[in-house]
Amino acid sequence: MAETIEVLIPEEDIERRVKEIGEQISRDYEGREVRLIGILKGACFFMCELAKRITVPVSIDFMQCSSYGSSTVSSGVISVKKDLDEPIDGLHIIVVEDIVDSGKTLHYLGQMLEQRGAASIRTCTLLDKPERRVVDLHVDYTGFEIPDQFVVGYGMDYNQKYRNLPYIGIVHLD
Ligand code: IMP
Ligand code: MG
Repeated sequence: MAETIEVLIPEEDIERRVKEIGEQISRDYEGREVRLIGILKGACFFMCELAKRITVPVSIDFMQCSSYGSSTVSSGVISVKKDLDEPIDGLHIIVVEDIVDSGKTLHYLGQMLEQRGAASIRTCTLLDKPERRVVDLHVDYTGFEIPDQFVVGYGMDYNQKYRNLPYIGIVHLD
């Protein structure tokens, strides 16, 4: 089946917003260091751009989770496919996601990471679909709230395609 992609958020708007979030984080963490934890694969484009806009010392690490279910719906049953390379005890952590949908992934990861002795844990997502939320989740930094539509680009995929689009687009199945 073919699909077409309709631009939802152009590249310039994403760049502007990423810069703003970077400035906000730099203010909030002034005098401290921050460890960004990116959730592979979708968050890695956003996290790299965000890291460049943060002026306090930054280190990075990655985790990869898999959620059982179809490619477009998260089941909430999550397993860790790749764990962090480094311990996080005593560190100020920001978990970076591409998009929060049901909220189950970030909720689960937050609970798991809380048990590892970080000094603080915050969350940051490029996109949020609030209409889809099924768990009570607070997100500290959000790029854009978007309607309940499946999106790709800037790291996000549909069947592993379109991660490299420099903008965010809505997928329409033809
Ligand atoms: P949640 O656990 O339901 O919040 O799902 C979050 C994860 O589902 C994200 O990290 C994405 O990997 C994936 N996801 C949710 N919505 C979309 C979308 O519109 N496009 C691409 N991936 C999505
Ligand atoms: Mg993801």
